[in-house]
Amino acid sequence: MGHHQGHGGGHGHGHGHDHDGDMDWSAMGVMLERYARVAAPMYGEVAAWLSRWVPEPGTVVDVGSGPGAVSFLLAEAFPKARIVAADPEEALLRRARDRATDEGLTDRFDTVRATLPDAIDDVPEADLLWLCKSLHHVGDQGAALAALAGRLAPGGAVALLEGGLSPRYLPRDIGFGRPGLLSRLEAADEEWFAGMRDGLDGSKGATEDWPALLTAAGLRYEATRSFLLDLPAPLPEDARAHVVQEFTRRREMQSERLAPDDIATFDRLLDPNDPQSLHRRPDLFLLTAQTVHVAVKDA
Ligand SMILES: C[S@@+](CC[C@H](N)C(=O)[O-])C[C@H]1O[C@@H](n2cnc3c(N)ncnc32)[C@H](O)[C@@H]1O
Repeated sequence: MGHHQGHGGGHGHGHGHDHDGDMDWSAMGVMLERYARVAAPMYGEVAAWLSRWVPEPGTVVDVGSGPGAVSFLLAEAFPKARIVAADPEEALLRRARDRATDEGLTDRFDTVRATLPDAIDDVPEADLLWLCKSLHHVGDQGAALAALAGRLAPGGAVALLEGGLSPRYLPRDIGFGRPGLLSRLEAADEEWFAGMRDGLDGSKGATEDWPALLTAAGLRYEATRSFLLDLPAPLPEDARAHVVQEFTRRREMQSERLAPDDIATFDRLLDPNDPQSLHRRPDLFLLTAQTVHVAVKDA
């Protein structure tokens, strides 16, 4: 990940960098956009729940938006709102602007360059700040929340999407390999994640008690809820492609940490010619949950 870690590289965790160590932004854009399509029903439920606090937000800012894949879902959920996608990566924001043009949304869709915790001057005052899997890319998460609290309109809300249940994809017995592949993969991911966080600029350890961190940022913590994404087998094509992509990048990321027999299992799962591969097996599913924490700024 090299020099990109400084401004929160790692992104979807290790995917999409080419041989020079530079990120392949279009690959990352495609990946995030596909996941947003796959998970759209879940994000729709989150947005409906948030309207308890912000029934008609004037301005919604998606902080760490990437290519704005989820920002466009927010534009649907809040049809009267101005939507602002904010991210450090210009290449991703350009992708968001191109899509806004294609969808005829330029009158209420903007992008701004912003890097948490301190380069957020261009973030407009928001009625809803949405942070979806972006805060964990920031070295000092507490400082980022405190800075963001300053961008919130009185009565406005922060929705922090972090954590939940890691995805399940396959039955316990997949017909080959050593049982427990996913558990070992998740243990390897945890190590990778800790190393990613240690390498961030201004990296600061903090207990990830999100309600406590929101409170420490001067906000009034309101609620936490988890939302299920439950796509049973057989998976639609987009969801299957998402799972294949996830296994592909984790195979790359974890090739040093996984045992040779698990690598062999991975290679079978990723071989399009193998009838038992992720590409072809009928029993592939996607089951996961995303946790959302809400806090408000007193009017
Ligand atoms: C896992 S992606 C999530 C993108 C988007 N929120 C979504 O759910 O599709 C993480 C995003 O956080 C952004 N990011 C990384 N460091 C950041 C920082 N210091 N401040 C704001 N955003 C950051 C990355 O550029 C990337 O777009």
